[in-house]
Amino acid sequence: WPWLHKRCIQRGFFNLRPMPQLLLCTGNPGKLAELRALLPGRDLLSLRDAGLPTDLPETGHTFAANALQKARFAFERTGMPCIADDSGLEVDALNGAPGVYSARYAGQAKDDRANMAKLLHELDGATDRRARFRTVIALIDGQGEHLFEGEVRGTITTEMRGTHGFGYDPVFLPEMSDLTFGELDPVRKNAISHRGHAVWKLVRFLSEGQL
Ligand code: IMP
Repeated sequence: WPWLHKRCIQRGFFNLRPMPQLLLCTGNPGKLAELRALLPGRDLLSLRDAGLPTDLPETGHTFAANALQKARFAFERTGMPCIADDSGLEVDALNGAPGVYSARYAGQAKDDRANMAKLLHELDGATDRRARFRTVIALIDGQGEHLFEGEVRGTITTEMRGTHGFGYDPVFLPEMSDLTFGELDPVRKNAISHRGHAVWKLVRFLSEGQL
């Protein structure tokens, strides 16, 4: 057994140091639910739990700039390890629009149905309907700033399909799938989504014992 004991020590099985709480910097309930499902076993706080406003400033022109801006805002006020993501839909035929403006594509109201209706209208008759979802996750802790990126490619449908998820899910058909994100159940969406890919990179980083 001594070799087994040594292996356990090497692999950290006896390391019972409690995992620190992480603050998830999003006020979007759909994203919060997805991130909670993707990070089981972690003690996760929401902005509301931390007494912070749920609509943090995001004035950057890239996903990375916005994710860092939100994470820095929360870290400066709480000192806790903070995770923020910024994500959106980039449509090839629209030169990457709506991009960082995805949430407010059809106006300030952040109205998912209005956003999808505007997108379908912009692509009316278009044959090139390729698009991708992108996510950048920023993690800020006492050690520094870290970025994790994920993307999923697909096409925009000609009509809304499905009631799952949020945002543009009913009009996004991921590659190799007959079902839109709005028709896939959340577990299957998370397995292939931009956010899923970025979170796996974050989870690998966390499990390497960094936090
Ligand atoms: P933000 O990342 O909260 O700034 O918002 C990005 C916007 O992009 C969301 O409000 C949605 O409209 C869209 N979006 C981001 N991720 C997804 C997704 O997984 N499904 C559908 N829409 C998304």
